[in-house]
Amino acid sequence: MNVLFLNGPNLNLLGTREPKIYGKTTLADIEAIVRKQAAKLKVKVEFRQSNIEGELVTWIQQARGNFDAIVLNAGGYTHTSVALRDAISAVGIPTIETHLSNVHAREEFRHTSLIAPVCRGQIAGFGADSYLLALQAAIIVKAN
Ligand code: DQA
Repeated sequence: MNVLFLNGPNLNLLGTREPKIYGKTTLADIEAIVRKQAAKLKVKVEFRQSNIEGELVTWIQQARGNFDAIVLNAGGYTHTSVALRDAISAVGIPTIETHLSNVHAREEFRHTSLIAPVCRGQIAGFGADSYLLALQAAIIVKAN
């Protein structure tokens, strides 16, 4: 079992970015937490972050044949990107939409996710723990 964790724009700033909303945990901390849990569960994980939409699209395309599931925090592209949605749909790898914050309790523009209809499900609102829940979701999706 091999899970690709993709992180979109501004998630490289976690730790200092709007800590009241996103917490003080850095992306490197999140990766370490997920790696520890994944090792216990004997799951391989890879973590990547990009501020560039096209790079995320390329990584989703390249995941075909290499990963069993994708955990995707697309950041702001969640609400705007037809290209990410099309990439997820094209490769057909089960994808878990993931957010630190509860996007549905925030500004109205965050209530719409263009990727949600092509993802297996959505996890939002649990801070850094959203990533651990997403790892669990990826395992469940693979088993079914
Ligand atoms: C986010 C929520 C998005 O609306 C926002 O643009 C982000 C982070 C989250 O993890 O809560 O960049 O994806």
